[in-house]
Amino acid sequence: MQTTPNKQEVAVVIGGANGIGAAVCRLMARMGWRVVVADRDAAAAEVLAQEIGGVARSVDVTDAGQINSLANGVEAELGGADALVVSSGAFQLVLPPEQITEEAWNHIVNVNLSGTFRCNTAFGVQMAKRGGGSIVNIASVTGMQASPVLAYASTKAAVINLTQSLACEWGHAGVRVNAVSPGVTLVARILKRWSEGGGTRAAGDPGQHAALGRCVEPDEVAEAVEFLASKRARAITGINLPVDAGWFAASGTEMYGGPRRATSQS
Ligand SMILES: NC(=O)c1ccc[n+]([C@@H]2O[C@H](COP(=O)([O-])OP(=O)(O)OC[C@H]3O[C@@H](n4cnc5c(N)ncnc54)[C@H](O)[C@@H]3O)[C@@H](O)[C@H]2O)c1
Repeated sequence: MQTTPNKQEVAVVIGGANGIGAAVCRLMARMGWRVVVADRDAAAAEVLAQEIGGVARSVDVTDAGQINSLANGVEAELGGADALVVSSGAFQLVLPPEQITEEAWNHIVNVNLSGTFRCNTAFGVQMAKRGGGSIVNIASVTGMQASPVLAYASTKAAVINLTQSLACEWGHAGVRVNAVSPGVTLVARILKRWSEGGGTRAAGDPGQHAALGRCVEPDEVAEAVEFLASKRARAITGINLPVDAGWFAASGTEMYGGPRRATSQS
């Protein structure tokens, strides 16, 4: 079975300039894809595109016009996207619901849910017309159960459902749509927050709640994304694949003291 694209297939990675998206761009370039690094952080997108021999595009997922221009430009210049990865994200602090402002709520929904919808629709319709393609949306394990970051988590739950629904819309046209749900992933944004004493680290190492006893590396999420984007996953659509070091599996062990620690006594 072939494991790398045989012609240079095109992957558009939205939110590709930093964090998980950047790890996806680097891996996909190594695997032989022509990568379009698309991000509202145009400067970082340019630097990464130069590093990996890809193409940088400035785009804000809150603007439907910009997304449609990106999709049309990729079609005109590169023959269209074979794969789309949506890794852009807006985040929130742990807050009681009444302290989440209307403005913050709307922004998180606009970037995470509506932005994913806009990107999927712009590229998915083109892929369906061409007879094939693969979309991978980055959701989150927070979208799979209750979470104190409830605005963010609600959008991720919706992204998982949107993914399934779009997989059914476009499956007959050869377009696959899947989600990857990372657990806490050690990107620069999170490491910076931890170094300032904030974020998920404030309550101790979040990795201790995972079956593997650790957090996730961006490269590990990228491996799953590239697999789902590639033809190696040609019979897989509509799934949500957690890449969480077993955090979701271990959540049921919390009332018994958490996942078993590997010790010399065990
Ligand atoms: N890091 C984690 O622990 C973790 C866990 C679960 C899910 N996720 C999800 O993974 C994805 C990537 O997160 P990350 O941790 O790599 O974050 P990050 O901040 O490192 O990267 C996010 C990227 O999205 C871009 N972006 C933000 N708003 C945008 C917009 N409106 N238009 C275009 N680009 C925009 C940013 O410029 C940045 O390059 C997000 O969807 C996030 O919800 C992350």
